Amino acid sequence: LIRILFSAGNGDWPEWEDPLRAALAHEGVAAELSAELPPGEADLLIWSPASAIRDLTSFPRLKAVFSLWAGVEKVPGLTTLTVPLARMVDPGMSAAMAEWVTGHVLRHHLGLDPVVRGLKGEWRGLPVPPPARSRQVGILGMGELGRAAGRMLSGIGFPVTGWARHGADSAFARIESGEAGLARVLGAAEILVLLLPLTGATRGLLDAARLQLCRRGQVIINAGRGGLIEEAALLAALDTGQIGHATLDVFAAEPLPPDHVFWRHPKITVSPHVAAATNPATAAPALVANLAGFLRGEGLKNRVDPDHGY
Ligand code: GLV
Repeated sequence: LIRILFSAGNGDWPEWEDPLRAALAHEGVAAELSAELPPGEADLLIWSPASAIRDLTSFPRLKAVFSLWAGVEKVPGLTTLTVPLARMVDPGMSAAMAEWVTGHVLRHHLGLDPVVRGLKGEWRGLPVPPPARSRQVGILGMGELGRAAGRMLSGIGFPVTGWARHGADSAFARIESGEAGLARVLGAAEILVLLLPLTGATRGLLDAARLQLCRRGQVIINAGRGGLIEEAALLAALDTGQIGHATLDVFAAEPLPPDHVFWRHPKITVSPHVAAATNPATAAPALVANLAGFLRGEGLKNRVDPDHGY
């Protein structure tokens, strides 16, 4: 009998138990699923950063780890992990991310703020937005989430250029790679979306020098990880107008401390890491389908490469 340990935040188990059990039954997996197995008994581990487990070396029987999060930078011992690790890939999460990103792109594209804030009795003309087809959108990171966002934005008419470690142009996006490609994306985009994983190669990617390469007045939307941007450099670039606005869903330290300058900065919109929260209704079936395939010997999908960190 396969024993699966679920270890996430204190309040998570009640939300996940039923969808996970239903998915296991649906996949025909006979397993003991529990939030309380001793480490010595767990064959498989379902883990989120809210888990109290900080060390995977004390799990002698462990055969695989399933992350409840798409981003896996907090998985203990990520770079030395000896068992396969799957990151969360869930069509429901991809759709939610595409919608969140599209909503925030459209806010800036259409200049919605004055109307949403309220015109206070003043009937006046507002700047006319250009058609979507002449608004360049750049997306750093063209994985599951970046591609989903790109497809939706392109469907609206935005020209989308993505930046990825590798990859070919698709029907909905041109793909750039490498340092020169990054400079081209930064320099062309009026709206820049960050959906990269946080790894040794991407930490601090948008530093002072690269922010200088951005198209002047660019709007940055970060739905990836806070560590992708150097906060002090971003503040400086907002002050000079080099960057026009930053909509941030993720931060170097979360929760963002109440006294952090971002909360009250006129050119920063703070969103409390809600862009595409894992939803058990869609994520449990996706996770368990992968788990079942792994148990059948079909290999693990969405497997993290410890060398690349995602
Ligand atoms: C959330 O940030 C995730 O990585 O799933």
